[in-house]
Amino acid sequence: MDLGLKGKTALVLGASQGLGEAIATALAAEGSNVVLAARSEDKLTTLATTLSNTYGVTASTVAADLSDPAVAASLAERVRKEIKPDILIANAGGPPASPSTGVAPEVWQSSAQTLLFSIIQITEAAVEGMRANGWGRVLAIGSSGVIQPIPNLAVSNTIRGAVAGFCKTLAAEVAGDGVTVNMILPGKIDTGRVEILDGGRAKREDKTLDQVRAENAAAIPAKRYGTPAEFAAVATFLCSDPAAYVTGQMTRVDGGMIRSI
Ligand SMILES: NC(=O)c1ccc[n+]([C@@H]2O[C@H](COP(=O)([O-])OP(=O)(O)OC[C@H]3O[C@@H](n4cnc5c(N)ncnc54)[C@H](OP(=O)(O)O)[C@@H]3O)[C@@H](O)[C@H]2O)c1
Repeated sequence: MDLGLKGKTALVLGASQGLGEAIATALAAEGSNVVLAARSEDKLTTLATTLSNTYGVTASTVAADLSDPAVAASLAERVRKEIKPDILIANAGGPPASPSTGVAPEVWQSSAQTLLFSIIQITEAAVEGMRANGWGRVLAIGSSGVIQPIPNLAVSNTIRGAVAGFCKTLAAEVAGDGVTVNMILPGKIDTGRVEILDGGRAKREDKTLDQVRAENAAAIPAKRYGTPAEFAAVATFLCSDPAAYVTGQMTRVDGGMIRSI
């Protein structure tokens, strides 16, 4: 199937590792030029070099800390005037684990800035050019917690619900201009983030990391964690030309982990 992604420009946020890196790689493999953003400039530069050497695409980097409102505003301005992406992968680091109460106000604020307000500002800037071109894809990385809140991840569960509301509202507003807006929900995909969360649980419950991973895997119908490449393959399809009639959706990539219909 021709995904129609050759020559498109994709801005991938949170691209220095994990799911963002996997999606940037999969899009580059389909011939998309990529702009890679995150805080770790060194990792981004290494990835950009690998992607351009391997796939012959243009790959550039933007070092940006999305917890800083001024940085997000400046990136949004660059998106509007210079980057003008056809595809936006709206992604950033997950909040720290905690129950719902006792969270420091700064954690709520910084997590909401990173995962919600900065994402809204950058998405709005990106969508302007997409609408003008009559083609665009916004794909926000959420979490299974949007549908089935995850114990001890209160901040994530809360903020991602707001992102879902934003995406669904925006999807209806821009669908007539050839722009799709979707969310993709990871269950347990094997990345650094999941290892940190599993490590935290192992410590709290006085277990080994292997024990926690085995218990988690046993609770997933597929009996294993997903790989970043499996996740990225679904993300890439949602960004493709053949996915033009899929919008306002939340797509689960979770090995059956979410139990509701
Ligand atoms: N993996 C899963 O199974 C899973 C499940 C549910 C939800 N999620 C969510 O999906 C998203 C991606 O997950 P992941 O597993 O790929 O996480 P990850 O391995 O921690 O990667 C997060 C990415 O976001 C970047 N980032 C973190 N804080 C940032 C900030 N303040 N400004 C800009 N970039 C920032 C990181 O790069 P730098 O450190 O270089 O900035 C990194 O590239 C996260 O929000 C995570 O909570 C993942």
